[in-house]
Amino acid sequence: MRRPSGCAVPSHEAVRVRVRAHAPGRVNLIGDHTDYTGGLALPMAIDRGTSVLLERTGDRVVLESADEDEPAVVELGVSDPAHVTPPWARFVAGVVQEVRPSEGGVGWVRTDLPIGAGLASSAALEVALALALGFEGPPLELALACRRAEQAASGVPCGVMDQLASAAGVVGCALLIDCSTLAVTPVPLPEDMEVVVVHSGRQRSLSGSAYAERREQCEAAVALIGPLREADLADVATIDDPVLRRRARHVVSENARVTAFASALAGDDLAAAGGLMVESHRSLRDDFDVSTATLDELVDHLLRQPGVHGARLTGAGFGGCVVALAEAGALSEGWVVKATDGAGVEVV
Ligand code: GLA
Repeated sequence: MRRPSGCAVPSHEAVRVRVRAHAPGRVNLIGDHTDYTGGLALPMAIDRGTSVLLERTGDRVVLESADEDEPAVVELGVSDPAHVTPPWARFVAGVVQEVRPSEGGVGWVRTDLPIGAGLASSAALEVALALALGFEGPPLELALACRRAEQAASGVPCGVMDQLASAAGVVGCALLIDCSTLAVTPVPLPEDMEVVVVHSGRQRSLSGSAYAERREQCEAAVALIGPLREADLADVATIDDPVLRRRARHVVSENARVTAFASALAGDDLAAAGGLMVESHRSLRDDFDVSTATLDELVDHLLRQPGVHGARLTGAGFGGCVVALAEAGALSEGWVVKATDGAGVEVV
């Protein structure tokens, strides 16, 4: 899809512009709870996502969603997204506050992403809506605006991975994101592998999780040993507090695993890549404490299936989805997801 160009829009006042924007969700292959300390992550935009159809008119944004009982009705001058109701309208309000469009709109939202499952459903809504409301700018600016919208809406101090993966996806590639420079490097995925997402069946909300506490713990570790991106395990060992030491050990080791995973993909070494995913899951479970018994059982179950190279929780944890790297056709459960391009919008 292309950005709408001015010449495609009839100038007659009575004709309303109608746009359709689509933003993919993402699955993170490796590198979780690293983005908010300037670390490395390796997500891919997926062929599941969120579409917004909007007819531009009026001085508020009115959206209905097939997944919600009540519509979102947001005034263009909204100033406190966190207190808008119903709760899903907070994300709409966060985006309106960021984009500040001169004109509102009426339309709908449709998604085939599970909500609250670690596949960046809220980021996909934000990115699609920002484009539908006329945001213009490169993918990084779009992602940063939508991250601010997410934080204003939810109060969760999230990193930028989800919005950046949705905005900057590249077909056939995972994205190596360096969260200290915000550089995005596409990493081609070998053709002889499948990425499979399996839902644990447990929904989670980051505002109801220990996400913010984990971020604070990482910042406390940074205060002791400096930027975790530059630290090594010897630095981590100097932290006296056992909890902060485990949190820092996860981040430092996870950054190293992301680099090793990207190299394994480049060398078509799927066994090595899968092994790194398993190590990542154990680190998220044992050092970062964001797994659950259900996620652990699901990972163990998937690892027992022939043709599965690796599996791990994906995203923030506390519930949601597991991602597996497998040979084609190895798994009959879950969804095979394909790496897609990032978000786009067109006049319809
Ligand atoms: C959520 C956040 C991201 C990232 C992941 C964990 O998805 O929105 O910024 O921190 O959790 O890797």
